[in-house]
Amino acid sequence: MKFTMVPFNAEKIKISQIFKNRACESFADTPVFSEKIKKVYGYDISFPKAPADRPYIFSSFVTSIDGKLAYADKPSAFYVAGKNQMAGEGKNTDFWILNALRGICDAAIIGGNSMETDADYAMYCMDEDIQRDRRKAGLSPIPLNIIMTLDASDVPLDHKLLKSREVPSILCTSPEGCSFLREHYEGEMIEVSGKEEPGQIHEVLSKAGKGVLPVLVTGEGKFPDSKLIMKILRGFGIRHLLIESPGYGHYLVKQEMMDEFFLNMSAVYIGGGDTMTLGKADKGFSAEAHPHTEILSIHMFNEYFVYFRYRFHYEFM
Ligand SMILES: NC(=O)c1ccc[n+]([C@@H]2O[C@H](COP(=O)([O-])OP(=O)(O)OC[C@H]3O[C@@H](n4cnc5c(N)ncnc54)[C@H](OP(=O)(O)O)[C@@H]3O)[C@@H](O)[C@H]2O)c1
Repeated sequence: MKFTMVPFNAEKIKISQIFKNRACESFADTPVFSEKIKKVYGYDISFPKAPADRPYIFSSFVTSIDGKLAYADKPSAFYVAGKNQMAGEGKNTDFWILNALRGICDAAIIGGNSMETDADYAMYCMDEDIQRDRRKAGLSPIPLNIIMTLDASDVPLDHKLLKSREVPSILCTSPEGCSFLREHYEGEMIEVSGKEEPGQIHEVLSKAGKGVLPVLVTGEGKFPDSKLIMKILRGFGIRHLLIESPGYGHYLVKQEMMDEFFLNMSAVYIGGGDTMTLGKADKGFSAEAHPHTEILSIHMFNEYFVYFRYRFHYEFM
């Protein structure tokens, strides 16, 4: 696999801080100290301490002003920012934020549908400066790439990520998903159920990126057990987990496990009932019981691109 790096120019893509919540001052866990992040974002990205039973979990998405994640005719996420003709370098800042978060996380999760829209999908930091800082901070060269799927039938099984020897990847699925893989996956896989001794689970997960696909099989029927998956990941040393999958991200919000959203708003209007939104495949929350969010920070590039950071609150669920 070719690791494409992007020459992000800090002077050109830097953004102005409009608001920073005082709560951020108490966030003492800074996974990576980076001059590049300071130059573009204004300060290093820090988090509260990760819980003991799961990683600290955050997502990075870009939406239009009406909350759409993709155009109907171009399903790749890239175009929501990329086709904002007024944004100038601000569209590159959007992609940079995703890369900064990839640079500071231990693992990142992607879903089958996004892999389908991008044959080269791999979650690694494309900013050379942050990548260097990541290594200095003692993090693995590439975050653990996790493919999350209910039943594996939507995962493109010939995708490079599954067999990569350079990108450490694992797949998490249900018992039915595992049966599907046994029947249809042509590469070599190794299964682990999460019921084994931690040492044994870790040994299997450590095979990621060595040409054999570790498959973590949990839950029942078509439903993996996300609480168990998160507990295992935390035990495996994953403290900071980035979610790049809108479908699974929504599920984590429902499970009250999502901690933060980095949500960039490209000031374009997409509209339509045929376009991708968060939680599209599911029912929405009710007026009486739904998550709230607290704005942690707001940055702007120009009048056409804004970058929000939110923290979830679940006390009214
Ligand atoms: N604008 C942005 O920032 C952005 C970012 C990323 C993607 N996108 C766009 O969003 C679209 C894809 O989004 P999507 O949500 O359809 O696809 P996705 O995130 O690629 O897929 C959702 C994945 O989550 C799995 N999943 C859902 N609930 C689960 C659970 N409870 N346990 C385990 N796995 C679970 C699904 O499994 P199954 O496949 O088995 O159902 C599926 O693989 C594409 O158009 C993409 O370009 C936009």
